[in-house]
Amino acid sequence: MRISVIGTGYVGLVTGTCLAHMGNNVTCMDVDEGKISGLRRGILPIYEPGLKELLDSNIQENRLHFTSDLQEAVAAGEFIFLTVGTPADGDGNADISSVLQVAAQLGDFIEDYCIVIVKSTVPVGTSARVAGKIQERLAARNATATVDVVSNPEFLKEGKAVSDFMNPDRIIIGVESEHARERMEALYAPFVRTGEGSVMFMDIPSAELTKYAANAMLATRISFMNEIAAICEATGANVDQVRAGIGSDDRIGRRFLFPGVGYGGSCFPKDVKALARTASDLGLQMKVLEAVDSVNVAQKKILVEKIKDHYKSDDLSGKTFAIWGLSFKPETDDVRESPAAVIIAGLLDAGAKIQAYDPVAIESFRQHFDLDIDYRDDMYDCLTGANAVLLVTEWHHFRRPDFSRVAELLQEPVIFDGRNQYEPQYADDRGFTYISIGRPPVLNSAG
Ligand SMILES: NC(=O)c1ccc[n+]([C@@H]2O[C@H](COP(=O)([O-])OP(=O)(O)OC[C@H]3O[C@@H](n4cnc5c(N)ncnc54)[C@H](O)[C@@H]3O)[C@@H](O)[C@H]2O)c1
Repeated sequence: MRISVIGTGYVGLVTGTCLAHMGNNVTCMDVDEGKISGLRRGILPIYEPGLKELLDSNIQENRLHFTSDLQEAVAAGEFIFLTVGTPADGDGNADISSVLQVAAQLGDFIEDYCIVIVKSTVPVGTSARVAGKIQERLAARNATATVDVVSNPEFLKEGKAVSDFMNPDRIIIGVESEHARERMEALYAPFVRTGEGSVMFMDIPSAELTKYAANAMLATRISFMNEIAAICEATGANVDQVRAGIGSDDRIGRRFLFPGVGYGGSCFPKDVKALARTASDLGLQMKVLEAVDSVNVAQKKILVEKIKDHYKSDDLSGKTFAIWGLSFKPETDDVRESPAAVIIAGLLDAGAKIQAYDPVAIESFRQHFDLDIDYRDDMYDCLTGANAVLLVTEWHHFRRPDFSRVAELLQEPVIFDGRNQYEPQYADDRGFTYISIGRPPVLNSAG
């Protein structure tokens, strides 16, 4: 099948590469010419495990092509995926201007029947607006091509994007025409052959809303657990035990029940806000989501508060903190809305100095945030001379550090663990003052 993908970011590049890997002929387009010329030479603009190997082999097999020319991409596709960004605007709405801009341009270039697939996360009603824009431009030049627009929101997780795309739990497709439905079923058939995942067809508004509802539900679990963690701290309960207790109820399940320093990334924060905005535009109020968002905004500052409590001062001048982890979660270099940025800004504001290490995200963090940070390229070197270490992103590298080396390098053996990676007793036995989220301090501590 001939496929074009417009917008070659985290979603577009994974989509294009995985579809090429199934034997399709894929053209990926992006307005960022630097990105495109790098990709032609096999240079990945993002860190995503497993993607480089697939990219190389499909470029070599001549199934995967890159262009910055939209007209060329349109001519190359009977299926045209829209995977451009939809960031939050200043009011929390999803900014769909890139989606609508591309839609209008499609109308300028489409010559034959094609299916335009809205994969970007967009508010209910956007796919209909995409169809309208295309029709407007087709009509303006008296073009006779017919176009079906379908909604196919993406559910991949950064860090596991390739396996999520190759083995999806479900593929949601909102569709109006029977022909488009058959073609979409054929396109995705190789991804659901084993029968573990399935293609679910529905109407277009329901597909658009399913994406927001899924992210909002997951974000709700996280904010809920962060509030439970606060109650644990106030009462002496242990959030690990509460989590295990409720997670064993199969109506609840074990996933997404981990308290921490709040959710970040390019999806949850903006999608929660955008869904709340959709509701308010309709004269409805999603009180739950407004609370989910405000709990999360506060949670991102929780380590800064714990540090100020520990040192019994709002003034942290003269202190240096080592930060382990800058990306918003492990196995990605994506730093959008990363809690690390809020924590570091809070500590700098209080007068502290920052040394930071991340296995892959230093460069993207440097580009995104103008913060006064002494970046280190080794996790232990990052600790040298610091008053304490903050574990912010739970990369595997930080799971079992050499605690005696950590203690030697730090000025004082103090860990602020924003991801509950260590057992309090284990850290205490090694002489650390160990402060985590929602877990009581060790009784009779020697530290
Ligand atoms: N990143 C994720 O984990 C994820 C998961 C599911 C859904 N989504 C959704 O998918 C969409 C894309 O997200 P992303 O993380 O891949 O974004 P991204 O910022 O990584 O990539 C978007 C790409 O679109 C390009 N672009 C912008 N305007 C363009 C235009 N007019 N023509 C061609 N290219 C253009 C940009 O240069 C960029 O390379 C968003 O709506 C997002 O909410 C993201």
